[in-house]
Amino acid sequence: MLLSDNFGRKINYLRLSVTDRCNMRCIYCMPTDGIDKLEHGEILSYEQFHLIAEAAVSLGIEKIRVTGGEPLVRNGIISFLQQLANISGLKQLVLTTNGVLLPEMAQKLKDVGVQRLNISLDSLRPAMFAQLARRDLLPQVLAGIAAAKKVGLPYKINMVVMRGFNDNEILDFARLTQEHECTVRFIEYMPTLKDKNWRSLVVSSKEVLQCLNKHYCLHPVDRGALAGPAEEFTIDGAQGQIGVITPLSGHFCQDCNRIRITASGHVRTCLFSDHEFDLKPILIPGNVAQIASELQHLVNDKPVCHSLNSHASEYAPFSMAQIGG
Ligand code: 5AD
Ligand code: SF4
Repeated sequence: MLLSDNFGRKINYLRLSVTDRCNMRCIYCMPTDGIDKLEHGEILSYEQFHLIAEAAVSLGIEKIRVTGGEPLVRNGIISFLQQLANISGLKQLVLTTNGVLLPEMAQKLKDVGVQRLNISLDSLRPAMFAQLARRDLLPQVLAGIAAAKKVGLPYKINMVVMRGFNDNEILDFARLTQEHECTVRFIEYMPTLKDKNWRSLVVSSKEVLQCLNKHYCLHPVDRGALAGPAEEFTIDGAQGQIGVITPLSGHFCQDCNRIRITASGHVRTCLFSDHEFDLKPILIPGNVAQIASELQHLVNDKPVCHSLNSHASEYAPFSMAQIGG
């Protein structure tokens, strides 16, 4: 079956945020005084997440990304991932992580069938890394990336570009694709926390590309059907690729193929819409058909587009750790 919404968009990608906990405190993700954490009892059990995943795959979801918070801090994550990998009909199981726990977990992730990682890395300079992540963990993350490489797990590096912080490292990150067979993606900072001066922190993808174009000849790359919203390029002599993700300036809403489940079991069909639906009451063993029909309903009502640039005050501030970064 094919899941599609009222605007004809094919929905084939589900993101599961399995925890709102994290071992970092990135400044673009968490407010200074932290987030209101969910009570343990509010967070879905793995059995509940599994029911949602089964229902979604029965509707035509082909790709599942497990996110957080930091998914690797949740106990039992490896066997949960194994169970997801065993759902028949699922084509891609991928994970987003900050990399801190990869040194000890990369091999296990590979063994249970995780196919690819997105690793967040915002600076290659220890002091800037510590300022952005509010944790002095660059060596651990670099060791985590090395571990992914060693066990043969393909990975992409996600860098959120922020003016006055890490925007002078764009070329250093681009160079990583010459040294390593990985994709580096530059992401526009999004005003999820709604800080007053957010516009001054945004470095648009256009600017990133202008900076790269001054130093490299960028060759556009053709991408697969399950690919996310990045535009990708290679530079001369590169083993890997460079991408830009433009949630603010580029409006990739028309190609949006995803729905999200929060750690508390709420469906969020658009990142920048407060409309959430609580699936918890129907997450009962044997209830896959009802969950599927509810998901179908919710997908039909997926908003056509966010309105970040026009009236950014329409949604309540949130942390990506609560929704699934
Ligand atoms: N702007 C852009 N990206 C964000 N992420 C989290 N918060 C933001 C934000 N405000 C993304 C980053 C990070 C991932 C976990 O979530 O890509 O690497
Ligand atoms: Fe944690 Fe990721 Fe948020 Fe950073 S962006 S605080 S690593 S959940």
